[in-house]
Amino acid sequence: MATAPHDVKTLGAYFTPEVVADALVRWAVRDPGDLLLDPSSGDGRFVARHPNSVGIERDPASVAQASVRAPNATLVNSDFFTWASDDRRQFDCAAGNPPFIRYQRFSGPIRQAALDYCRRLGVVFSGLSSSWAPFIVAAASKLRPGGRIAFVVPAEIGHAPYATPLVDYLLANFGSVHVVAIKEKIFPRLSEDCWLLFADNAGCQADGVRLSKLERFDSSGIPPAVSELIPIEEWRVRWGGRLRPFLLPARIRSLYQRMTTDAGAVRLGRIARIGIGYVSGANHFFHLRPSDAERFRIPDEFLVPSIRNGRYVTGTEINDADVERWAAKDEPVLLLRIPPRAQVPAAVQAYLDTEERHRARASYKCRNRKPWYTVPDVRRPAFVVTYMSGRAPTLVMNRSRCTCTNTLLAIDLRPGLFDGSGDFCGQRLPAAWSSSVGRLSCELEGHPLGGGMLKLEPGEARNVLLAPDAVIHQPEAALLDEGIEVMRQWRHVA
Ligand SMILES: C[S@@+](CC[C@H](N)C(=O)[O-])C[C@H]1O[C@@H](n2cnc3c(N)ncnc32)[C@H](O)[C@@H]1O
Repeated sequence: MATAPHDVKTLGAYFTPEVVADALVRWAVRDPGDLLLDPSSGDGRFVARHPNSVGIERDPASVAQASVRAPNATLVNSDFFTWASDDRRQFDCAAGNPPFIRYQRFSGPIRQAALDYCRRLGVVFSGLSSSWAPFIVAAASKLRPGGRIAFVVPAEIGHAPYATPLVDYLLANFGSVHVVAIKEKIFPRLSEDCWLLFADNAGCQADGVRLSKLERFDSSGIPPAVSELIPIEEWRVRWGGRLRPFLLPARIRSLYQRMTTDAGAVRLGRIARIGIGYVSGANHFFHLRPSDAERFRIPDEFLVPSIRNGRYVTGTEINDADVERWAAKDEPVLLLRIPPRAQVPAAVQAYLDTEERHRARASYKCRNRKPWYTVPDVRRPAFVVTYMSGRAPTLVMNRSRCTCTNTLLAIDLRPGLFDGSGDFCGQRLPAAWSSSVGRLSCELEGHPLGGGMLKLEPGEARNVLLAPDAVIHQPEAALLDEGIEVMRQWRHVA
């Protein structure tokens, strides 16, 4: 297609395999007279399958392609939300693949129009929402009673915070809401997995979310038989509005749920404060090698050993021997820490005056803080956790009380909270974290990032469930381990 590489991301222009478009349109259109809407019609592969259709597309080059491919369709070159605010037609069905544009790029007047449109329907999306969710709400609002939608959606419908208001809206406005999770990638070139969403009988209310779990897309069985009907309260209250935990077999899910109420089990956020490490603004400048520190004669009190990234987080703890080993290898792990009102010694000033400072000072963070050389939020947490991980997030005790960068979660136990019970005194946290419950909980509370990675945001880490080992016996531990494997397979970890 004619779209420049830069525009592909800005427009979310990844076109759907023909077999998928075909299966969705075949399901959505029930009568030759049905009027079909594709809110982001791209090169026209959905609207080409049904003559009585309307495609809205922002990119003129794609509209030109669509007009060749779908000569009978009505094509409108417009932003969908602007069109949706003006056009009063009602449709029998909508199908397509909305653009997945993350909030950083989904900005300006189009995002505002999208969020305003949804707000008028009673759906409040935060500014962090990706574009696809408002597209689906707005497309659904264009249906006449009895209508239906069939869309390709990113797998983040299973975990993103903004998927909850979308699913809530669908449950309140359709008699049936069916999410089809598909393990094998529909778009092999995209890091993100894609699932399918079907909603039928507009104007009614659903009693829960129907979920199917497929190994791979199979056009003959679309939509597939429902594997499970998830009651609304269970989805919303027990699982925080996330569908992803329902990828687990029911018996593992209920075991995990039982553990959440077991005496002794606790969410990490109850016993600990969780944040992320500091942002230096210019890592190269603010992290010195021991040889640099020596050359500039930087006083020790201006240097803090820092855990730069997950590569340094191995084993169960970081201790003085580790820090000495880093020093022996002359690793750049000494953070230059100048308190805001400190008298800057001549040696430190000499370092601040080096040529390198020009680049550091020009960085966004340094330009926007005073003084530019004071790195804020330098904590020395009791534990650190890797929050972008392959197999599992690692938690280690920070015995040397190093500081850490924002590539790691910084964790401190809440003072006094568990004194006396001894359940989660520092020694036991690493064991609880790496137990079956802790690891499964990381899979359920974190979210896949593509490429086999699991991300654990601070808010997600707060929900990680920890149980003293004694609570878990065989065969429960084996079931939990099976659950971990299931979740890992869904996120394609090697
Ligand atoms: C994922 S592609 C899907 C295209 C086509 N439906 C398909 O599945 O092959 C998303 C399309 O949305 C279009 N798009 C992005 N922002 C839009 C907007 N605000 N209004 C209408 N179309 C938009 C992009 O140009 C792109 O063609």
